[in-house]
Amino acid sequence: MNIIKATDYNDMSRKAANIISAQVTLNPSSVLGLATGSSPLGLYSQLVERYKQGDLDFSRVKSVNLDEYLGLAHDNPQSYYYFMNENLFTKINISPENTHIPDGMATDGQKACEEYEQAIRALGGIDLQLLGLGNNGHIGFNEPGTGFEQLTHCVALTDSTIQANSRFFEKPEDVPTKACTMGIKSIMMARKILIIVNGKGKADIVRKAFFGPVTTEVPASILQMHPDVTLVADAEALSLCTL
Ligand code: F6R
Repeated sequence: MNIIKATDYNDMSRKAANIISAQVTLNPSSVLGLATGSSPLGLYSQLVERYKQGDLDFSRVKSVNLDEYLGLAHDNPQSYYYFMNENLFTKINISPENTHIPDGMATDGQKACEEYEQAIRALGGIDLQLLGLGNNGHIGFNEPGTGFEQLTHCVALTDSTIQANSRFFEKPEDVPTKACTMGIKSIMMARKILIIVNGKGKADIVRKAFFGPVTTEVPASILQMHPDVTLVADAEALSLCTL
């Protein structure tokens, strides 16, 4: 595993943007696996800046997102569809038809997950998958205990996740209880993986995930078995690791 130490969040975002920029420059038809959450926000704004400066061209890039809540429409500000359009897609020259996010409004969630996995294969697989790291070691919506052999699948959100999300919704019944996520196997099939982590709050899980035993109790620990993983983390996130 390649570990790149950044000084802080901005430095992490720039260093991660360097990796994605190199990928898109060297292979303009790359299939990028993308993530939502707070970790990639700075990276996405870096990519937008580089696009505006004329240094990046996304016209042939294809993207597949890791996950989406089930039951949220595209115009719901909590949907990952909304997030990606707001923070990246509408600010660069990627074609909307080249972007893929699991269908949050699918009536048959299981079928939608299977079709999503097939769509990834039809694109030729993922060249570079971007990941964030959950506080409990999750990647995508693959929570501790998820089998490493899973492909894209539906998950029931844990009570603590539902509880944490409830602050974003007016009524409790509007809070999503299910999601569609790429599985660990879908993620591990990506040719390269870039995982970005920042902040003191994640120092312990970074140590467990990348220096502890490989176990389904820490889903991200499986990344130790991938042949091409780059971890870009800030000094705080790496503070409990001896490099
Ligand atoms: C996002 C995703 C999640 C996040 C993780 C970290 O698409 O699948 O696994 O990457 O929860 O979230 P942040 O970056 O908000 O700390």
